[in-house]
Amino acid sequence: MKFSSRLQEVKRVHWHMVRKLINAKEAQGVKTISLASGNPDLPTPPTIVEAACQALRDPTYHRYPFSFQTRYGEAVASWYRERFDVNLNPATEVRPLAGSQEGIGNIALTVMEPGAIALITAPAYDSYARATRFAGGEAYLLPLQAENDFLPDLKAIPKDALERTRLLWLNYPNNPTGAVAPLSFFEEVVDFARRNDIWVCHDNAYSDVSFDGYKAPSFLAVDGAKEVGIELNTLSKAFNMAGWRLGMAVGHPELLDALSFVSFNTSMGLFGPSQIAAIEALTTDQSWMLERNERYRKRRDILVDGLRAIGLELQRPRATLYVWAKLPPAFSDSLEFSKWVLDQTGVWITSGIFFGPAGEGYVRASITLPADDLSEAMERLQTLKL
Ligand SMILES: Cc1ncc(COP(=O)(O)O)c(C=O)c1O
Repeated sequence: MKFSSRLQEVKRVHWHMVRKLINAKEAQGVKTISLASGNPDLPTPPTIVEAACQALRDPTYHRYPFSFQTRYGEAVASWYRERFDVNLNPATEVRPLAGSQEGIGNIALTVMEPGAIALITAPAYDSYARATRFAGGEAYLLPLQAENDFLPDLKAIPKDALERTRLLWLNYPNNPTGAVAPLSFFEEVVDFARRNDIWVCHDNAYSDVSFDGYKAPSFLAVDGAKEVGIELNTLSKAFNMAGWRLGMAVGHPELLDALSFVSFNTSMGLFGPSQIAAIEALTTDQSWMLERNERYRKRRDILVDGLRAIGLELQRPRATLYVWAKLPPAFSDSLEFSKWVLDQTGVWITSGIFFGPAGEGYVRASITLPADDLSEAMERLQTLKL
């Protein structure tokens, strides 16, 4: 019996190795602190949970979930109008997703094929490269550098690569670098995509985790964006709802239609009570996010100040759940650094190499732990001899 050759071609995620390393440290009696997770630790607001509880008791929502999907689309359209000043037709320009992850996997299957290239910023959330490979395509990496504010240089892509390119993946606010993109960059992207006949998929997963007054825009806020692509968004980070698996793809109607056709192969829509929770989340007062983001801001500052105090170079990010720091001069191998730090202090800080070779030389630390745990992690790091 054989497995698909696809499985050999795609590298497995590193996270099971991290788990093993942390378990081994715990087995020595050390209480570890992991700064790895992008999984929000704060609970979903109670009114949203209550809406789902009520729906759970209604037999309407025990059937296949097609009939009320229209209301989900309308709720997304209303959120996009209020939050991003973007108008969407709920019937043709919005599709529900089981988290943005479903969109990442299926958009690759929708537009990629053997011989085709997807442009991927590097370092990046690892799913873009994996989805591209699973769909038989090749990745062409666009380096993100601190001196360019972690924005790619679209002019540097050679003509022969552009001729084979089908898709450009973007993600701002960016995981792992924490960088944000100005609207002028999205304008440049629309122009680039039009000229080269390339789809754009902008992943806006961190649009509503931001600090210091920063408000992330939608890619679709730029004129012409809907004609070249889609945006993925999710309730996971914005609404503390990662476990509910609620997301959306919005934008180009034909691309969304094709995406729905691919998705229908593996999924029959979102559980009704979850959809009701999403409608509640998207259409009611969201001012609670300000306090949540202020809590995240304090955590971010603990990490930024703590890592700077031990000599790591980093910018103070205005969005996302992460800080992205340059290794101290004595180190060049990020995995060796992470292992050494875990061994010395019991703190796991994610190696930049997990986000592709372009992440080498960096580490990523996450703010999804209570402030006291982050402070303790930083105190332990101060004991390192760097
Ligand atoms: C950039 C990015 N996109 C997508 C996802 C997946 O999010 P979702 O829960 O919406 O599937 C993550 C999760 O960490 C992410 O970091």
